Amino acid sequence: MTETIRLARPHFDEAEEQAALRVLRSGMLVLGAEVAAFERECLAALSAPDDTSAAAVNNGTTALELALMALGVGPGDEVIVPSVTWPSPGNAVILRGAVPVIVDVQRDTFNIDPKSVAAAITPKTRAIIAVDQFGVPADIAMLRRLAGDVPIVEDAACAMGSTREGVACGLAGDVGTFSFHPRKVLTTGEGGLVVSHRKPLMTRVRTLRNHGQLEPGLFREAGPNARMGELEAAIGRAQLSKLTEILAIRRALGERIRSEIALGWQQFPQGANVNYQTLGLVLPMPATGTRKQARDALVSALRAEHIEANILSYALHRLAPFASHAVNSARALPMAEAIVDGGLALPLHTRMTDADCDRIVAALRKHASWALGVRDWWQ
Ligand SMILES: Cc1ncc(COP(=O)(O)O)c(C=O)c1O
Repeated sequence: MTETIRLARPHFDEAEEQAALRVLRSGMLVLGAEVAAFERECLAALSAPDDTSAAAVNNGTTALELALMALGVGPGDEVIVPSVTWPSPGNAVILRGAVPVIVDVQRDTFNIDPKSVAAAITPKTRAIIAVDQFGVPADIAMLRRLAGDVPIVEDAACAMGSTREGVACGLAGDVGTFSFHPRKVLTTGEGGLVVSHRKPLMTRVRTLRNHGQLEPGLFREAGPNARMGELEAAIGRAQLSKLTEILAIRRALGERIRSEIALGWQQFPQGANVNYQTLGLVLPMPATGTRKQARDALVSALRAEHIEANILSYALHRLAPFASHAVNSARALPMAEAIVDGGLALPLHTRMTDADCDRIVAALRKHASWALGVRDWWQ
């Protein structure tokens, strides 16, 4: 029987099993030493400057919510978010009672379009969330030039291990957030992280994540329980110890597939070293039918060959939660729509073999022959 090439798979071995056992045997499941060690080791993996600190939390969505809370985002504020993303950045804004202002993305990197951001800034703009889409670094330096002192939240949920001009994703904005969901390069099951060099902001994040408690018994403000558990942190430490290896395998596999077949792959900006979180591409307009029909047909054909392809992402301005809450929800955002309609994600994980790569390339040659050679899918 043909084995299915899964879309994603965690890179687990005895190291994670030993880490979990260590915690179980310690009897200490929360508020122990593992979380603090994980935070320190994350900062080391990011080569973070000494003034930067980290707070581990229960997932990447909470990380965004806490970052916005700590920045003081609330009712009446606007927060600019890219349309193409998992809904978390937009949800986090709505959950703060603020208004997401949804903007278009760049056709090549699929990242937030700085020109659209510049056009969307108003006196009510309280923050910008820049997603490093599928691990590809957003142009935070350009956003900084355009946005003046409006705080930039770098949503590096997918970008552990990616850098731009030598700076780790997550560190380029005022505050950075990560997810350690099982589809991510580094996973703890559920898990997330907030990082920043802004000391008062990080004190507030740490206070908020622990019921609003600055120190035991000193409750400062209402906050959720958003702590990471010791089991997750210990698993994360095992994962971090293998991060270099994980990244090297992913890069080799991703580069191999991308170099063997010319399609509309997501482009990487100059100076970026990308973690190959997702192998994403967009199909050109087919001769007949719509981009979405062509994409759905290709996903089905690949699945029939036991290759677990999937749609690439979502366009927030077309999703129900944003219909009545967001600025631009009724506007066409052409790039976001084309990327989401024609985009698909292909399998990429560290257990894939060269033979798996060959199977994927052969299946694409067979089922997407009409799209071969069209790197500039938007033309
Ligand atoms: C860009 C982005 N932000 C936030 C999240 C949320 O992370 P989590 O699933 O850990 O809540 C995701 C999850 O995939 C994401 O892709």
